[in-house]
Amino acid sequence: MEFVGKHILTVDQMDREGIEVLFDVADQMVPYATRRMTTRVLEGAVLSNMFFEPSTRTRVSFGSAFNLLGGHVQETTGIESSSLAKGESLHDTARVLSGYSDVVVMRHPDAGSVAEFAEASRVPVINGGDGANEHPSQALLDLYTIRRELAAQSRDVDGLRIALMGDLKYGRAVHSLLKLLTLFDRVEVHLVSPPDLPAPPELVEGLKAAKHVVAEHHEMAGGIDHVDIVYVTRTQVERYESSAEADRYRGLFRLNQAIYTEHCEPHTVIMHPLPRDSSDAAQELDVDLNQNPNLAIFRQTDNGVVVRMALFALVLDVVDYVHEDARPVRWYTDKRTPVRHRST
Ligand code: NCD
Repeated sequence: MEFVGKHILTVDQMDREGIEVLFDVADQMVPYATRRMTTRVLEGAVLSNMFFEPSTRTRVSFGSAFNLLGGHVQETTGIESSSLAKGESLHDTARVLSGYSDVVVMRHPDAGSVAEFAEASRVPVINGGDGANEHPSQALLDLYTIRRELAAQSRDVDGLRIALMGDLKYGRAVHSLLKLLTLFDRVEVHLVSPPDLPAPPELVEGLKAAKHVVAEHHEMAGGIDHVDIVYVTRTQVERYESSAEADRYRGLFRLNQAIYTEHCEPHTVIMHPLPRDSSDAAQELDVDLNQNPNLAIFRQTDNGVVVRMALFALVLDVVDYVHEDARPVRWYTDKRTPVRHRST
């Protein structure tokens, strides 16, 4: 696939070769993402980071990724603070914004809205999540994480056994990840959800067409046994008519250390796109898993920066120049000790 000058709207655009290229570039970004080295390759470039739905990680990691490549980030958050609240069309906003920036990242509550925006944009647009539809950069960082976690066990994504658990109907990160898995071979997919919140049937069909083994479960027991990865998701409260309706599903699948020990294999990796809902009603990923070395949720968030740096470098066609003026940072030392909290 071609990245240069392209919008990144859906993982349908990806192929295995493109993923290899992306992950190879992501690996090259580690010294910059960990602030050992600096590069100014995107100096003078402007990212418009437009988030019309709540976000911490996706917004900040796209912004950080652009900053770490030397670019400038301008942010718009919340529909109410943009002219969309005055009735401006996505078309007009796109025409205006693309005059002010070199690339746009956009999150919007409506499925298809980012593609509509991209049609009018004169610069590349990256989908930061459009309603319940897709979240391509999240799925790419999830796949990058899966690959790294499995590599540490001398395993490969081909032959992966994965359970995805929770709100599979509205979870856009899951939707994009299920599509990406169709690019691999011999994957075993366990879909664990309440009966009312199954993965969209066309995605299940896609997995079957790729000759993957697919099993649907409504109980955690049986669904998360004998898998390499358990990918837990949040009930997507914002997609329901009322929070009371969402509350019917919150807390149905609570993974904690005792259940993990009983059902999972010793090397089963636990993932979650975050935020995890830690309210009393939900607790989908208990804090007692925080000491479990197979909890990969914060490795996922770290990986998000390098994968997003790679997306920018490829789309803006600067991969060959990233290392040209790379400099070590003076203050960095491997002897840095982690901050110790008083309670530990
Ligand atoms: C996800 C999202 O916004 O779709 N979060 C994220 O971007 N990391 C998942 C979620 O909100 O549950």
